[in-house]
Amino acid sequence: MAVEKKIADLEGGIGSLCTTSGQAAILLSILNICSAGDSFISATQIYGGSINLFAFTLKKLGIECIFVDQNASEEEINSAFKKNTKAVFGETLANPALTVLDIEKFARIAHAHQVPLIIDNTFATPILCKPFLYGADIIVHSTSKYMDGHVVQVGGVIVNSGNFDWTNGKFPDLTEPDESYHGISYTETYGKSAYIVKTRMQLKR
Ligand SMILES: Cc1ncc(COP(=O)(O)O)c(C=O)c1O
Repeated sequence: MAVEKKIADLEGGIGSLCTTSGQAAILLSILNICSAGDSFISATQIYGGSINLFAFTLKKLGIECIFVDQNASEEEINSAFKKNTKAVFGETLANPALTVLDIEKFARIAHAHQVPLIIDNTFATPILCKPFLYGADIIVHSTSKYMDGHVVQVGGVIVNSGNFDWTNGKFPDLTEPDESYHGISYTETYGKSAYIVKTRMQLKR
């Protein structure tokens, strides 16, 4: 809990959830808002393990990842959206190419479609870049690298900005009663913390 608060403070978020690996953080960040039959968009310039998770493992669960080149025009990226698209994903500095993502462009596009931008900030860390300042809504890290300081422990984290409006009609899992957790609506009960409370109380448990 102390680590979660420190990381949320470093990123300028309102809450976070630590996980057992970076890959677990990424998986939960998507599963929290996507179900079978949904899709999300990801930059192609991301860590190979995440490509594998998105293109193969999530596909088997019925969640489609639509890849777009991060340097594509806004028009091209806009045309990749479908009715069932629930999120946009990218890495601040991509592993291994170290390409720099235009976070503001991706945030603008995601928000025009009323979906959140999830940023993997592993390589930059909040010391070099704070993606919430550029419009990201959710940040994930593999803390196994720089955040750990000595690269001795595998871990991950999901950080919530508290800025995204989950009540726009696209995210019933956050607004409708959750049968698995006392029939509560996360947005009604937890307001700005809805997203991160759901990861903790539903997916992590
Ligand atoms: C950018 C990035 N995200 C996520 C991961 C996955 O993290 P972990 O190895 O902690 O599961 C890695 C691992 O190399 C990474 O480089």
